[in-house]
Amino acid sequence: VPEIGCLSIIVLGASGDLAKKKTFPALFHLYCQGFLPPNEVHIFGYARTKISDDELRNRIRGYLVSERSASPSKDVSKFLQLIKYVSGSYDAAEGFQTLDKEISKHETSKNSLEGSSRRLFYLALPPSVYPSVCRMIRRYCMNKSNLGGWTRIVVEKPFGRDLGSAEELSSQIGELFDEPQIYRIDHYLGKELVQNLLVLRFANRFFLPLWNRDNIDNVQIVFREDFGTEGRGGYFDEYGIIRDIIQNHLLQVLCLVAMEKPVSLKPEHIRDEKVKVLQSVLPIKDEEVVLGQYEGYRDDPTVPDHSNTPTFATVILRIHNERWEGVPFILKAGKALNSRKAEIRVQFKDVPGDIFKCKKQGRNEFVIRLQPSEAMYMKLMVKQPGLEMSTVQSELDLSYRQRYQGVTIPEAYERLILDTIRGDQQHFVRRDELKAAWEIFTPLLHRIDNGEMNPIPYQAGSRGPAEADELLEKAGYVQTHGY
Ligand code: BG6
Repeated sequence: VPEIGCLSIIVLGASGDLAKKKTFPALFHLYCQGFLPPNEVHIFGYARTKISDDELRNRIRGYLVSERSASPSKDVSKFLQLIKYVSGSYDAAEGFQTLDKEISKHETSKNSLEGSSRRLFYLALPPSVYPSVCRMIRRYCMNKSNLGGWTRIVVEKPFGRDLGSAEELSSQIGELFDEPQIYRIDHYLGKELVQNLLVLRFANRFFLPLWNRDNIDNVQIVFREDFGTEGRGGYFDEYGIIRDIIQNHLLQVLCLVAMEKPVSLKPEHIRDEKVKVLQSVLPIKDEEVVLGQYEGYRDDPTVPDHSNTPTFATVILRIHNERWEGVPFILKAGKALNSRKAEIRVQFKDVPGDIFKCKKQGRNEFVIRLQPSEAMYMKLMVKQPGLEMSTVQSELDLSYRQRYQGVTIPEAYERLILDTIRGDQQHFVRRDELKAAWEIFTPLLHRIDNGEMNPIPYQAGSRGPAEADELLEKAGYVQTHGY
């Protein structure tokens, strides 16, 4: 049953980068598709800077128009009219009291519709202010309608720096809000091909008998970017590639690749299975880690001269359970590499009794390309067309652009924000999941922070350190042509 009544979306940190580049554009696209009806919805920007409504609108305007928006100028102006700005600090009552007054004003004017009041607080802010902001929301800005409704908060990574700090943050927020009110975003969970993983694995008879240690030799989950930390060096240097990408985005993908079939599609059932996978991961061994830092990274004025923060890492995880024992899950992420790509590569074992002597031509491999150009393809052996009985490696290819022409694939943030409005937590990280994820990486991160493990320099625009390819080979990955 669709909820009626007014919906207030409050973007805290409204003048920051995340809000401008991701949150407001996602809201705009939802608006254009009719998910944010103007007679119900109002959007509030909140930040410390003292600016007018129009100034905020002008700052956002340039980020809204993309290939995605069909009739830009008209829609943009209408959308911007829904936005109001309130300035205030993140730890004092005054700003939040004003914010509450503004929201209530909007609710009274719209509640002639008779309905509940829904308040969605999106914290596009650094985690250091999460506790104080949550306290302020709890004290001054909760939904007060006696017609029902809800108050929800959305938070972004990094949720802490290690197990201890993440747990502290979780308890601080947990004292103020219940788990069903907290939406921890990992935007990789909003990507089309990540969401497709459950369907692929559990709705296809093909994969059911093959998806295990008897048939799969190794799994790679790879993230590459062909640009450095330009402009974000200060933030990045504090966190590094493991906290920025691997502990969250790649690990979430690993969960969906490795988990058992959930009892149902209920969010709790899915998240229960993800937690089990995380809890089955063995401690990481030093010899199964390669760290790198691209040359030129320290030239960024916001990066300390002697920084040993990795901008590249390959880490092998081993899942200690019946399905996966002995299968390395190779997580690899790097900045300033030779291409921009995120993909999952599932490599199968060799065929026993190789009568074609085709082993050297490569193995069966199933590749799921998350971006760019979403695709799934299967590398397999076929007879080389012609008179000879020789073999060649070929591909069964499902490229989304070709197969689903005219279908617009939604942006991750767009989908996830819609889920928060609908109250669907399936694609959000639960507290115990977060804890289990930090448990896996905290010992390694502490060793890096203490200078006990140092990154190997690599050239910007390269594949990363050669040692990472050696580790891959040692783990059993067989490189095929074209990769
Ligand atoms: C963010 C990281 O979470 O994800 C960035 O902080 C990274 O460093 C970005 O660039 C990558 O996201 P996407 O969707 O472009 O792969």
